[in-house]
Amino acid sequence: MEIIIQADSQEASQTAARIVARTVREKPHAVLGLATGNTPLRLYRNLVRMHREEGLDFSGVTCFNLDEYVGIPPAHPSSFHSYMWAHLFGHLNVAKERINIPDGLTADIPAACRKYEQAIRSAGGIDVQILGIGTNGHIGFNEPSSSLSSRTRIKTLTEETRLDVAAAFGGEESVPTHVLTMGLGTIMDSRMCLLLAFGKKKARAIAQTVEGPVTAMVPGSVLQMHPRVILVLDKDAASELKMADYYAWVSDHKPAWQKY
Ligand code: F6R
Repeated sequence: MEIIIQADSQEASQTAARIVARTVREKPHAVLGLATGNTPLRLYRNLVRMHREEGLDFSGVTCFNLDEYVGIPPAHPSSFHSYMWAHLFGHLNVAKERINIPDGLTADIPAACRKYEQAIRSAGGIDVQILGIGTNGHIGFNEPSSSLSSRTRIKTLTEETRLDVAAAFGGEESVPTHVLTMGLGTIMDSRMCLLLAFGKKKARAIAQTVEGPVTAMVPGSVLQMHPRVILVLDKDAASELKMADYYAWVSDHKPAWQKY
């Protein structure tokens, strides 16, 4: 795992944007896996700025979102469809037919999940999977106890996660109980995982993900088994890492060709 610790979320998001932009420049038909939530907002703002000011071209890119709430129409203000159009797709030149988000209204959930997996395979697999992390260590909406080899499927949210997203729905009682999410096995098939985490609230999940045992009780810890994972953290999210000084030293002493 490569751990990059930066002063704040602004600097960290710029670094993450450079990593994504490099992939898109090197591979114009790149496949991006995308997350929602608060964490990637600045990263997306940076990508939009790079598109506008530097001509970063997304016309050949294919996107797959990690997850969507079950029973929420795409036009609902708190759907991940709405989020993605408001913060990213509405400002880039991604072709509409290459945007994929799980369908939370599908009548046949198992068939829709199989189709989603097949679409990822047909697109050639995900080049960079952007991830946030829940306070309980979830990635995507793979809550603790998720199978480490799970595929896209329906999941039930934990109370902790429903409380974390309650504000977006005007209270916990209105938060959907179920989601469709890529599985941990789906995420692990990506060629690169780029996980962002900011703030003290995420420090424990990050320490467990990086330095704890690999366990279904901390779904993010499965990334220890992935050959190419980059974590971009701010100081607060890194504050419970035992080897933080070592990770910082490694970053500072990288050869120029390894820098972002
Ligand atoms: C969202 C997702 C989740 C979030 C996580 C952190 O698509 O897959 O795993 O990344 O819940 O959310 P924020 O960034 O809002 O703290």
